[in-house]
This record gives sequence, structure tokens and C-alpha cells, in this order.
Amino acid sequence: MAEFTLPPLPYDYAALEPYIDSETMHLHHDKHHAAYVNNLNAAAQKHPELFNKSVEQILADINSVPEDIRTAVRNNGGGHANHTFFWEIMKPGGSKEPTGALAQAIQSAFGGLDQLKSQVNDAGAKRFGSGWAWLVADNSGALSVISTANQDSPIMEGKTPILGVDVWEHAYYLKYQNRRPDYLNAWWNVVNWDEVSRRYDTLRR
Ligand SMILES: [Fe+2]
Repeated sequence: MAEFTLPPLPYDYAALEPYIDSETMHLHHDKHHAAYVNNLNAAAQKHPELFNKSVEQILADINSVPEDIRTAVRNNGGGHANHTFFWEIMKPGGSKEPTGALAQAIQSAFGGLDQLKSQVNDAGAKRFGSGWAWLVADNSGALSVISTANQDSPIMEGKTPILGVDVWEHAYYLKYQNRRPDYLNAWWNVVNWDEVSRRYDTLRR
């Protein structure tokens, strides 16, 4: 039995400059993500059997979480899972486009990478308030673009996140202020397509 822990960023805080600034990365990881982890642990202390599961396992069956902590686990467990995922699917440099099975699946589902980007940008720009825009796969591997509110995870809907972008103001406001579409456009420059393609391959195995 172990508490949930904040994973270190897989790269330097300044690694995603100039698209995502170092100060935003410090606050986003060290303060916001850390708070989700701390609050998840505080909630789970009341029902310590949750420490035997991964956060993804908990989210996949969120309705089985005891009611007195369900909202806290939904928000903070979702926040922990979403941010851990987000750090991993970004990278400085790296491939500029998807590869292998994912490239083919994007072609057949959307007509190409540009069309996928435009659907994700649209979903992110239209998300009212705080949330995320996602490329997800269902159990058959079929791709779609969705948006979730707050820290809700696609895992709660039985879907597997392949790619996702945080559109909470804390993700972009220091550098982009109210220009969320500019942040979304810039964000594509730091997508880790190797990792995103790998995740799709893993799902289909
Ligand atoms: Fe965030």
C-alpha cells in the first residue's frame, strides 16, 4: 500500500520553450499537479483500500468509489492521471507527426493530421471554463475527438486517451493570457508523437 506520488517532469522545466514557458511549467507541475496528488491522498486516507489500485483503475470504476470521497477522487484523481499523461505526451523536438498504425488510423478517421489538429483545437477552444480536449480510442481502436470538463478523464467513459491538451487557464495564461487558440496552435510543436504513436500501438496489441 503506497500513497500516490508526484512523478518528476520527464524533461527540464524550460525544455518546451518557447511554446510553453518555464514559469508556467514550474507552477503547473510543482503546484497544480502536486495539489491534485496531495488532495487525492487526503481523500483516500478515509478509504485506504484505494491505495491498492492505480489511479487509472480507480477512474475506470469511479462509481464504486465511496460516495463521501467520490467527488474529491474524481477531481483530484482525474487531475493526477490527466497531468501525468500530459507530461508524457509532450517532448522537446522529437517526431513531427504520428507514425505506423496511428498515422493510418488518423488518416482514415479524420482525413489527415491537419484535420485532426483542427478538430482538437476546436474542441479545446469551445470548452467553456476549464477542461481538456482529447484524441481517444474506444475498445475497437476507433479514434474520436472529445472534450471533458474540469479534470474528468476519458477513462471514466471507458475510452483510452491517446493525446490530450489541458485548456485550464493555468496551462497557458502567463504566456498567452486570454488567447487560448494561440496556445493550442503552439502546443502542437511540443507533442511527443513517438509516445502518442506507442500508446496507440500498445492499445491494439
Ligand atoms: Fe493543468
